[in-house]
Order: sequence, then structure tokens, then C-alpha cells
Amino acid sequence: MAGGSGTRLSPITKIVNKHFLPVGKYPMIYWSLLKLKEANIENVLLIINQDDRPLYDKLIGDGRELELKVTYKIQDEPLGIAHGVSLAQSFVGNSPFIVLLGDNLFQDSLRKAVNDFDVDPKMGHVFLKKVTNPMAYGIAEIDSKTNKIKAIEEKPANPKSDLCVTGIYLYEASVFRYMKQLVPSNRGELEITDLNNQLIKEGQLGYQMLNGWWIDAGTHESLYYANQLINGDRKEPNHE
Ligand code: DAU
Repeated sequence: MAGGSGTRLSPITKIVNKHFLPVGKYPMIYWSLLKLKEANIENVLLIINQDDRPLYDKLIGDGRELELKVTYKIQDEPLGIAHGVSLAQSFVGNSPFIVLLGDNLFQDSLRKAVNDFDVDPKMGHVFLKKVTNPMAYGIAEIDSKTNKIKAIEEKPANPKSDLCVTGIYLYEASVFRYMKQLVPSNRGELEITDLNNQLIKEGQLGYQMLNGWWIDAGTHESLYYANQLINGDRKEPNHE
């Protein structure tokens, strides 16, 4: 997912989409592509804004240089992550698929989780990470008896835990049937959190913890930290 408006990185995002901003030696979006490659995924669909299409042609094209097969789908308006994912239905067909938010950078390899999901698929699987600012993310509440996710709250005013649902999601193609039932949230978006809550109700959402560092590079401060993490100058992000 590389659309959206990137307002939290304004003013530069008035003229450049955040996924082109440098993190270490690469534009931000490269890190997602490299993570997919590391997980042995070849076919990638980038959900992007119309204005960025010619820039992607120059930067990534069909993905050959990265040894990936990259195609593109335009999201006309930033109507939410779940809206963007719904645009991938024909690309995905009947296969299980992985969604990465292009502003999420992380250390763990996804190879094992992708393989395991291929073999024994639940309808969805998410990756959690402890954060110090839970009001900024989707936050998972874990049932202490069953150890399963009870519910996820998007940017809660009173967070029930400090476990962020990161922007890495594994899904079965059957989840598209739930997309049609989603309604826009208070911020006017079709929320991936609402889709995941639906899967929780069906007993169909697995999870695991991320072990290495993770950061959402969508703010000025976190973009700075992301650069330090990628360059190895910093061990864990400071989420304050
Ligand atoms: O970073 C993890 C968080 O990402 C999760 O904990 C939240 O549950 C999830 O909703 C999301 O929250 P954000 O408010 O940080 O999402 P943001 O609007 O920054 O968008 C995340 C990525 O998805 C970013 O790379 C842009 C892309 N995007 C976003 C929207 C709204 C699209 O491609 N299209 C969209 O319509």
C-alpha cells in the first residue's frame, strides 16, 4: 500500500508522496519490496495515487531490477487501507496474499510466517509489537485465558494494551467477501481494523509478535528514527 495523503509529513508531502522519501539509501517503498523479496514473494501489486504513476515508471517500472514482478493499481482517493486492499481482488484471485503498509519498516524476516500461512491458512494473521504510544495505532487486546486477540481498537483514547497491530497482514482470498460489509469510520476511511475485527468474530485471526525493531515512518520524528534504525545507529525506536 503506497497511496494515502501523508499529511503527517507535510509540507514535503504536498509535492512528494511519502513513499518516495529517503530512508537510508533507498526510497521508503523499496524496504517493503525488499521484505517481500526476502519472503520469496515475486508478484507485487502497488496501490498508488494517480499522480505518482509516472514516477513509479521511472523508479521501479515492472520491478525487473529488483527481480520482482511489479504491477500497479490506482486508488483514486485515500478512502482507507481496506479500500485499497479491496482494489487488489482481481490481482489476488484465489491465492493467499500479504499486505504491507509502505510506511512500515521492520527487521524481522516474514519468510517463515508466509510459508506457515501457505500450509495452514487461517483467514488472517497479524503481527504485533509493543509500543509506548498506543493511541497512535490499531491496538490489540489479548484474552488472558485463551491468549487470542479479543478485539482491536483503532487509535484508542484509552488503550487496553500497548500491543500495536503493525501494517503487515496475511489474508486468504476469502476475506474479500467481508470488504463489502465495511462502512467508513469517523475519519471517513474503510479501516483494516474493522476487517480484522470481523475475522476475530469468526475466530479467524491469528497473530504473532515481531521480535526485531518496527517503525511506522509516517511522521517527521519517526522518519528520522527509521533512518537511524536502517543505518544501524539505533537499537529500538523511541515511540514517544
Ligand atoms: O502503522 C500501523 C498502523 O497503520 C496500524 O496500527 C493501524 O491499525 C492502521 O490503520 C494504520 O494506521 P495509520 O493511521 O498509520 O495509517 P496511514 O493513514 O498512515 O496509512 C498507512 C499506509 O497505507 C501508508 O503507507 C499509506 C497507505 N494508504 C493509506 C490510506 C488511508 C493507502 O495506500 N491508501 C489509503 O487510502
